[in-house]
Amino acid sequence: MDATGFRRLWDQIAETGRADSGGYLRFSWSATDLALREWFDAQAAERGLRVESDRNGNRFAHWDAGTGPGVLTGSHFDSVPHGGAYDGPLGIVSALLAVDELRASGFTPARPIVIGAFTEEEGGRFGVPCLGSRLMAGVVDPDRARALTDPDGTTLAEAMRAAGADPDALGPDPERLASFTAFVELHVEQGRALEAPVGVASAIWPHGRWRMTFTGAGDHAGTTRIPDRRDPMLTFAFAVLAARKEARLAGGLATVGRVEAVPNATNAIASQVTAWLDSRAPDEAVLAEILSGFTSKVKDRAERDGTGFTIAAESETPIVEFDLALRDRIAALLGGAPVLPTGAGHDAGVLAAHVPTAMLFVRNPTGVSHAPGEGASDEDCAAGVDALAAVLRDLAC
Ligand code: GLV
Ligand code: MN
Ligand code: MN
Repeated sequence: MDATGFRRLWDQIAETGRADSGGYLRFSWSATDLALREWFDAQAAERGLRVESDRNGNRFAHWDAGTGPGVLTGSHFDSVPHGGAYDGPLGIVSALLAVDELRASGFTPARPIVIGAFTEEEGGRFGVPCLGSRLMAGVVDPDRARALTDPDGTTLAEAMRAAGADPDALGPDPERLASFTAFVELHVEQGRALEAPVGVASAIWPHGRWRMTFTGAGDHAGTTRIPDRRDPMLTFAFAVLAARKEARLAGGLATVGRVEAVPNATNAIASQVTAWLDSRAPDEAVLAEILSGFTSKVKDRAERDGTGFTIAAESETPIVEFDLALRDRIAALLGGAPVLPTGAGHDAGVLAAHVPTAMLFVRNPTGVSHAPGEGASDEDCAAGVDALAAVLRDLAC
């Protein structure tokens, strides 16, 4: 396909959820999310695809053809706060265009082709990444999911109800998982590792998110003597530096990108600081080493500061090695496309435990992601559509 054809469809959602920062606020079950779902439904209808929601709020557009389990493609609409345009939506727009391309070539699939739009992939609203696919796979307890809250205190159950969805239906969906013979998620590359327009994923690093709570004694910034202070902000500051150091020494990554202070006043010592640790590593032993080194050092520091420190996992994802046969088949089909691992999480990583799964990456010239500067050229995106169409043709014939 040509770059103009890609741009034409891409531009239809370019302004949906766009913030003044140039990034996107596309949180699950928000008005923006509902607008994107509506757009998806309309696009599916234009193509004569049958659309349905599953019990977990994921949306699927079916090209009902042939027999047997279908080939699933697609990705997610939701973004991190002020995230880029491509992470997620590129996989959905590319899937719609790939269907157009297959249709235009006169291809008739021998099995269904299904485009999925997963919900809350980023955990940008409710904190748990890949929530829609994890619920589907039965690795998140539905009661826990329903009670998750967003930064305003709205629960997932409340948000779903307000959007006209039924939170009581949340839960494992083995039948739907069994209805797919393969899943291929196309995604923008999120680092600078891909030099060709299109690559194929080998693996996803093990990763997780941990909620950290630092407690102390709120007091006056101008009258509390230094020896009398129990300031959780100090322990938190130490933790940020310790995370980086432990990760650097072990050969992994650790990030503290979100923090909330109580009462969050300039002239008051905080009584509590809540922050989130994101850590990832090439293998599980390294990830465990970062976590244990970090936890024991911050505990020691909290003791010295007279503060409290607790850490609890919000999500943990083991290493994912994508289906070797599928990956090799796709790389060969694409003329020896480069194969590379990623440190980013994806619904593909969750479904990989149940369905032979692969990922296609589209080159990202700056490598920036989860930020407004995320990008890919229209030409590379068009090459991604061609690659996805070729893969779907191969898997559905
Ligand atoms: C999702 O994109 C993640 O890697 O956190
Ligand atoms: Mn994504
Ligand atoms: Mn992402």
